[in-house]
This record gives sequence, C-alpha cells and structure tokens, in this order.
Amino acid sequence: MLNIFFNYKKNLIFFIVLMLSIESVAAVESSEELEKTLGPKACASCHKEETRAWKKTQHYKTYKEIPRKGIAKKRAKKMRFKQIKTDSLCVNCHFTAVKSGSRIKTVAGISCESCHGGSRGWIQVHSDFGGRGVKANEETPEHKKQRHFQAESNGMIQLSNIYDLAKNCYRCHTVPEEKLVNIGRHPAGSDFELIRWGQGEVRHNLWHDENSNNSLSQSRLRIMYVVGKALDLEYAIRGLAKATIDGSYFQHMAQRRDKAQASLKDIASLIDNDEINKIIELADGLKTIVNNSDYLTVADEIGQLNKTFSALTENDQLNALDTFLPKPEEYKGKVYHP
Ligand code: HEC
Ligand code: HEC
Ligand code: HEC
Ligand code: HEC
Repeated sequence: MLNIFFNYKKNLIFFIVLMLSIESVAAVESSEELEKTLGPKACASCHKEETRAWKKTQHYKTYKEIPRKGIAKKRAKKMRFKQIKTDSLCVNCHFTAVKSGSRIKTVAGISCESCHGGSRGWIQVHSDFGGRGVKANEETPEHKKQRHFQAESNGMIQLSNIYDLAKNCYRCHTVPEEKLVNIGRHPAGSDFELIRWGQGEVRHNLWHDENSNNSLSQSRLRIMYVVGKALDLEYAIRGLAKATIDGSYFQHMAQRRDKAQASLKDIASLIDNDEINKIIELADGLKTIVNNSDYLTVADEIGQLNKTFSALTENDQLNALDTFLPKPEEYKGKVYHP
C-alpha cells in the first residue's frame, strides 16, 4: 500500500515537472522551417505511389495514434494535456506542422518534408523541366543542372546528398532532449540503425520504377552504413553537449557514443579511409564530462568529415563491409509493394 502511494506520488511529481518543463519550451522549434512546410498533400498529386508507401508507416500512423496511445494518453488525461498535437516539444518529432494564418497547425505525422526539406521554395522548380509542356526527356543538360542547383539552394535535400538526408533521422531518433528523457521518462534514443530502419517500411524507391520498390544498390548501402555510424557518433556527441546533469539522459548518450565509436573502429579495421580514421581520433580525444565545451566543435568536425566521406561514389575497398550490413530479414517493418 505504502509502495503504491509512493509510486503515485512519484508519478504525480513527474507529471507536474514534465508539465512545467514543457510549458517553458518556446514555440515550435524552427519557425523558419515552419514557414517552408506545406504538408504531404502538396506532394500526393504527383507522387502517388510514394504517398501510398508512406501511409503504411509508423511515421504516418503516429499522427492519430500518439495522442490516443498508452502512456501518452495517460499523461494527456492526467495532465489535461489535450494539446499533444499542438505542444511544441512533441510536435518537433512526432508531427508535421504548418502555418495557418497566425496559428500553427499539425497536419500529419512525420512526413515527406521532414526528410526532404520544407518545400515552399523548391516544389515548383524541382519538377519544371524547362517550361510548360516540356517533358523530362526533352530537358537540356544545362537546364537540368540549373534545376538541381535551384532546388537545392531553395532547401531541397537531394538524393545524392546521403549525409543530409540521413541526418534528419538522427535529429529525431537520438531523442536529444534532456528533460524529456530524465523527467518525462520518454524513451531515450533506441537502437536506430540507418539500413535496418531505412530499408523496411520506410523504403519508397518508387519514382524511377513505380512497380517495384527495389532495394538500393549494394554500393549505396555500404556508404550509407558507414555514414549512419558516423552520424550516430556525431549526434550522440551533440546530445552530450546538451546535458546539464549526469543523469539517465547523459548516460544514454555516452553509451550511444561508445557503441557508435566501436562500430567505426570495426569499420576501420577493414577499410583504410582518412576521414573515418580522423573521426575516430577526434572522438577518442573527448573527455566524457557534463558541460564539456569541446563537444560541439568536435561534432561539427565529425559532420564535415562524414559529409566528405558520403560523397564517395566508387570505392572497391568498401566491398569488405558487406559482412557488417544488416540482412533484409532484419529490416524494420514490411517493405511496401505496389
Ligand atoms: C507537379 C508535380 C510534383 C509535385 C507536386 C511534387 N513533385 Fe517531386 N518530383 C516531380 C517530378 C516530375 C520529379 C522528377 C524530377 C527529375 O526527374 O529530376 C520529382 C522528383 C522528386 C524527388 C526525387 C529527386 C531526384 O533527385 O531523383 C523527390 C525526393 C521529390 N520529388 C519529392 C517531392 C516532395 C517531398 C514533394 C512535396 C513537397 C514533391 N516532390 C512534389 C513532380 C512533383
Ligand atoms: C526529440 C524527438 C522527440 C520528441 C521531442 C518527442 N518524441 Fe516521442 N518518440 C520519439 C522517437 C524517435 C520515438 C520512437 C522510439 C523508437 O522506437 O526509437 C518516440 C516514441 C514515442 C512514444 C511511443 C514509445 C513509448 O514507449 O513511449 C510515445 C508514447 C511518445 N513518443 C510520446 C511523446 C510525447 C507525449 C512527446 C511530447 C511530450 C514526445 N514523444 C516528444 C521522438 C521524440
Ligand atoms: C523518413 C524520411 C522520409 C520520408 C517521411 C519520406 N521520404 Fe522520400 N526518401 C527518403 C530517403 C532517405 C530517400 C532516398 C533513398 C535512397 O535513394 O537512398 C527518399 C527517396 C524519395 C524519392 C526518390 C525515389 C526513387 O525512386 O529514387 C522520392 C520521389 C521521394 N522520396 C518522395 C517522397 C514523398 C512524396 C514523401 C511523402 C509522401 C516522402 N518521400 C517521404 C526519406 C523520406
Ligand atoms: C521528425 C522526426 C523524425 C524523422 C526525421 C525520422 N523519424 Fe523515424 N520516427 C520518428 C518517431 C517519433 C517515431 C515513432 C512514432 C510512434 O511510435 O508513434 C518514428 C518511427 C520510425 C520507425 C518505426 C519504428 C517501429 O518501432 O516500428 C522507423 C522504421 C523509422 N522511424 C525510421 C526512420 C528513418 C530511416 C528515418 C530517416 C530516413 C527517420 N525515421 C526519420 C521520428 C522521426
């Protein structure tokens, strides 16, 4: 009885502190990104198959499920937390928000622009092959180059840019929010791995062939595998930089950092690459203490090196990594087939 009473009190304190900490969070994370976001309906008319694939994912389902689900629902009820969908902190990772007049409206779960970039500035230009009626195969090479350049300058993350595409995943999946983890008891970043989590239900390679959602080429998977490990390391260090106390959040981030660093060392035992070697050296030089002012500089440097690595196109050396790549049966969720 005493125990139940104690837990009840403990929980109550969590809820109150969680509520306080949430109220102190400023408006939705990046208002600049918010201004650029149109929502997934803007893509659906042209990208029908990609939209169908997306609707089968947890990223889509979270929109309806989270506000109703188990622990989130309990919290919402007890805290009169009706506004999970408009609360800034949850919205940052669980929803797509758009500006509607002066209001902020959530319109979907994690959607197209969460990964491809807010599209207001590029939605027109990325599919304009050179004026009205001009088809893809009629586009001049100069126009194509200019179009890609324009789309990218206006915020589109190109498919060729593996690093920036994958960076999005880590921004959310490492859960870099100290209070949310320590006080809100939100799960800290899970065992996210780029290939395993990206090639199952999330996969939608349906544009170039809308009948088969084929797996990526082996050479792209190899690069992605390494880029993912280095991103994990970078984001764990970014997470450590945000820690203010040596609590559960800090410990989780330190473990994440150690695991990613160990994976990179395994990689370095099979391939000899300057960027990877430098990344390992940088991370080895860091002291694991709260408020280490070196964390952010090192994370930035690791990011730069990883970006350089990610631009690799041909490299026979990377074949050696095949033994590390997750197998299709380990991919998370069901691959969508049209
Ligand atoms: C008017 C039709 C149209 C709309 C609306 C549209 N797209 Fe596209 N999209 C295209 C076309 C056409 C291409 C092929 C461009 C090419 O061949 O380079 C394309 C290509 C892409 C690609 C692949 C680019 C590459 O490098 O292969 C992505 C990613 C993409 N669109 C995302 C989106 C997202 C996200 C939205 C919504 C915010 C969107 N598109 C809205 C027509 C559209
Ligand atoms: C920094 C990003 C981030 C923020 C902020 C965030 N979440 Fe999450 N949340 C995640 C991720 C990522 C997962 C999936 C965990 C996994 O499997 O990796 C998740 C999973 C969940 C789950 C299901 C798993 C579980 O056992 O709890 C609930 C419920 C949830 N979040 C509620 C919330 C609520 C309520 C808020 C706002 C108070 C919130 N989240 C804020 C990233 C975030
Ligand atoms: C969780 C992140 C994420 C979400 C959500 C997402 N995409 Fe993608 N998308 C990617 C990644 C990563 C790739 C690149 C896969 C690769 O080639 O490595 C991609 C590839 C594409 C392509 C190129 C496909 C091809 O055949 O080459 C198109 C087009 C596209 N996405 C459109 C969309 C649209 C439209 C939506 C929303 C309905 C969407 N995406 C939602 C991450 C995402
Ligand atoms: C805007 C934040 C955000 C981004 C960007 C994002 N995710 Fe997620 N993802 C989440 C959240 C939150 C959940 C959990 C939703 C829930 O459980 O309701 C989730 C769930 C998932 C799941 C389902 C996990 C399960 O347990 O079923 C997979 C797989 C996944 N994400 C892969 C990816 C990949 C791969 C990328 C990058 C290409 C990515 N995500 C980008 C926030 C994000």
